[in-house]
Amino acid sequence: MILEKKSIRNLVNYQTKESPYLVKLDANEGKNVLFPNGFDLSQIKLNVYPDDQAKELRQRLSDYLNVPKEMIVEGNGSSELIELLIKTFVEPNEAVLSVVPTFSMYQIYTEIHNARFIGIPSRKDFSIDIDDVIRAVKLHQPKLIILCTPNNPTGYQMKRAEIIKLLSSTDSLVAVDEAYIEFAESKESVTMDVEKYSNLVVLRTFSKAFGLAAIRLGYLIGPKSIVDSIGKVKSPYHLNALSQSIGAEALLKINQMRAWVNSVIFEREQLLIAFKNMKIQTYPASGNFIFIQSDVALSVELESRGILIRAYQGDLSGFYRITVGTASENAQLIQALKEIIHG
Ligand SMILES: Cc1ncc(COP(=O)(O)O)c(C=O)c1O
Repeated sequence: MILEKKSIRNLVNYQTKESPYLVKLDANEGKNVLFPNGFDLSQIKLNVYPDDQAKELRQRLSDYLNVPKEMIVEGNGSSELIELLIKTFVEPNEAVLSVVPTFSMYQIYTEIHNARFIGIPSRKDFSIDIDDVIRAVKLHQPKLIILCTPNNPTGYQMKRAEIIKLLSSTDSLVAVDEAYIEFAESKESVTMDVEKYSNLVVLRTFSKAFGLAAIRLGYLIGPKSIVDSIGKVKSPYHLNALSQSIGAEALLKINQMRAWVNSVIFEREQLLIAFKNMKIQTYPASGNFIFIQSDVALSVELESRGILIRAYQGDLSGFYRITVGTASENAQLIQALKEIIHG
């Protein structure tokens, strides 16, 4: 029997739901609004390796974000970029600090690479006390700080001024994961600050607002020196030609993406009102999902009716994360919740 390396022995596989469903609200995915008629793949040269530098995609990202393309690196999902940050910058035993609860992969990648994960608890209402974070950073001297805003799963969005306060107080590398920023207050984004702070990087994804989770495409915006260092570590041709092409085409459809995002925001506010009317405890939502608490086993009950949502265990037992669906999906959800709660 070949022994696994010690750092992964207690890990379990990333959990994805395989159950049959009518309505899928468990993974914060979007809808295919950008390519309703599919995508023409005939231009892609299937026999040659893809562009290792993803030049066309990065140029379009540069135009979209108004940031030089030398400050952008693509990833096989933003998940790959989170791992690349740790592989590139964090030595074994160094600390990676984040505020919990948050996206589970920060801790998992940290542990795989033999570094130490330090989770600073958010307040009871899941808001974040930035002074608490700054104190913890002084104490633990992490190599990397990862902030998720809007935060998955709680939905809490940090203020840009708070992130700037942290940046001004530390030399640690600060990665701000803006996977859900398109659904939130965009004035709180720190994308524009990467040109000013040499220790700031921003992570984004096509999996949420662009509704393209299947193509596994993310990107990082950061100082050229950091982008260059990541370039040394990433696998050759890590981003396949199909994803590069679809991503580049999607960036010509920004207006459609924004229109769809606006409809999700509208539906989110309707759902929040419906939950409040049902006396379900909700938290302020700024992504394409809503975090709720209930003493009823909602995910089991909903799953038996064909509706998938995300349930949490341990300290977060009784908490659920529900992706905002279409008007019709949300109506089915509300109807089912009424039956479950009121009989
Ligand atoms: C906060 C956050 N960051 C990153 C990711 C990973 O996204 P990607 O599909 O780009 O790997 C997710 C996925 O749910 C997420 O919630």
